[in-house]
Amino acid sequence: MMSVIPPLHFLLSLFLAFLLLVGLVFNLIGWQRGGAKSGHRRLPPGSMGWPYVGETLSLYTQNPNTFFSKRQMRYGKIFKSHILGCPCVMISNPEIAKIILVTQSHLFKPTYPSTKEMLIGPQAVFFHQGSYHSHVKKLIQSSFLPSAIKGQVHKIEDIVLGLLASWERMDTINTLHEMKKYSYEVAMISVFGKEVEGNEIRGLKHLYHCLEEGYNSMPLNLPGTPFKKAMKARKVLNERLRKMIQKRREIGEHGGGLLGVFLDLKGKDQLSDSQIADNIIGVIFAAHDTTASVLTWLLKYLHEYPHLLNAVKIEQEEIWRERLETKRGITWEDTRRMPVTSRVIQETLRAASILSFLFREAVEDVEIDGFLIPRGWKVLPLFRTIHYSSDFFPEPNKFDPSRFEVAPRPNTYMPFGIGAHSCPGNELAKLEMLILIHHLTTSFRWEAIGEGNGIEYVPFPVPKQGLPIKLHRVREV
Ligand code: HEM
Repeated sequence: MMSVIPPLHFLLSLFLAFLLLVGLVFNLIGWQRGGAKSGHRRLPPGSMGWPYVGETLSLYTQNPNTFFSKRQMRYGKIFKSHILGCPCVMISNPEIAKIILVTQSHLFKPTYPSTKEMLIGPQAVFFHQGSYHSHVKKLIQSSFLPSAIKGQVHKIEDIVLGLLASWERMDTINTLHEMKKYSYEVAMISVFGKEVEGNEIRGLKHLYHCLEEGYNSMPLNLPGTPFKKAMKARKVLNERLRKMIQKRREIGEHGGGLLGVFLDLKGKDQLSDSQIADNIIGVIFAAHDTTASVLTWLLKYLHEYPHLLNAVKIEQEEIWRERLETKRGITWEDTRRMPVTSRVIQETLRAASILSFLFREAVEDVEIDGFLIPRGWKVLPLFRTIHYSSDFFPEPNKFDPSRFEVAPRPNTYMPFGIGAHSCPGNELAKLEMLILIHHLTTSFRWEAIGEGNGIEYVPFPVPKQGLPIKLHRVREV
C-alpha cells in the first residue's frame, strides 16, 4: 500500500516553490511601486509597466503625445514610469519643471547614455555641472550672443545664396538633407571663425556624418556597425582638431569663432586640448541637427498654410524693396524687423517641439510636491506635453502663430530649455531661419513633389527626409 504521507523531498520542493512565488509577488509589487525603498514617503502615481522592459515599448510604438497625455489624464502632472531600463518620473507641470531645471537644478544632474558621452566627448559642456560647466558655458554663450553673431550676417547670407543657387539646379530637394548642409556650414563658421581655411575643415564633414549616424544607431561596438564606424570617426576628428589647435597655438594666431575664444584663454582659465576638442565637437553637434529639423518643419508649415506664407512674403517683400533701393544685402537690423516671420518660427518651435523632453537624474532623494523622487531616478520635464497643454496654449493642435502676439506664461514655452543648461545657440538658430526665409520667400517659389510630407511622427517627431520640393526662381536676389 502506498503511504499517504508525502516523501520529504516532495515537501521540500513544495516549500521552495512557495518561497519562489512569494518572492516573485513581492518583486512585482516592488516593481510596481517603483523598485526603490520609499520608506514612508510616497512615490508619484503611475505604472512601471512590465518587469525590465517597463513602458519602453509603449512609448516607442505610439505617438508620444498620446503616450504622455494618456498618463497625465490618469495620474496627473507628475507620474512615474520605467523607460529605457530606468525608473523615472515624468513632469508636465511648468512650476515643477522650473524647480528641476532652475531653482533646485543642483539636485538634478544632466544624464546621457555612456555611449553618447563617448561619441561626443566626456568633457563637453552638456555632461557637467558646477564650476567647470559654468566656466565653459560662459565662453560658449559669449560667442553666440547677438553682439557676437551680428558680424556673421553677411557670411550666413552668402551661404544661403550659394545653397539656393544649387537647389535651383536640382530636380527635387530633400529638405532635411539640404537644411543639414546649411546648419552645418553656419556651425562651422561660428566655431572656427569667418576666416577659416577651406582645407582645414575639408574632410571634417564626412567624419561628422559618420559620428551622427552612429549616435542615432544601436550602440553595438561590432565591426561594420554604424556605431563602430562612428567611434573610429570620433578618433580621427579628435586628431584633426588637435592638429588645428596646435597649429593655431604655435603660430600665435588663434583665429575667430569659438575656437579662437577657447585659445585666447590665459592662466587658470585655460582649457586643455581635449577639453577644447570635446566642446568644439559638442557645439557643432548641438547646432546642426536641431536647427535643420526646425527649418524642415518650418517649410512644411509654410507650405501647408498658404495664408501664413503670404503674410510672411508681404513682410519680407518690404525689406527686399528697401534692400533694392539701397543696394545692400540683409542686415542684422533687418532681421529685427520681422515680427510676422518670427511668430511663425516661434509657433514652429512649439508645434514641432523637436526636443520632446530632457533627461535629468536625482543626485539624492528629493521631495517635490509631496512626492518622493528617489536618488538615481531619472526625471523628465515633458516640454512637448507642456507645449500642447490647452491650459497654456488654447487649441494646441492648431498651428496659429498669432498666439505669440501675447507673451506665453512663464516656463510654459521652453523650446530652448531653461536654467543653467538652456541653449546658448537660440539666437543663432533664429537668425539662420530668418535669413533663409527672407531669400526663399522673396526670390523663389516652391512646389511640393510627390505624396506625403516626409515627416514621421513616431517614435519622435524627427523628420526623416522633409518635404520634397522643387524650387523656381522668380527674380534675381
Ligand atoms: C532650433 C535649434 C535648437 C534647438 C531647438 C535647441 C534646443 C536646446 C535645448 C532644449 C537645450 C537644453 C538641453 C538641456 O537642458 O539639457 C540645448 C542646449 C544646448 N544647445 Fe541648443 N538648440 C538649438 C540650436 C543650437 C545651436 C545653433 C547651438 C550652437 C551654439 C546650440 C548649442 C547648444 C549647447 C552647447 C547646449 C548645451 C548647454 C549646456 O549644457 O549648458 N543649440 N539646446
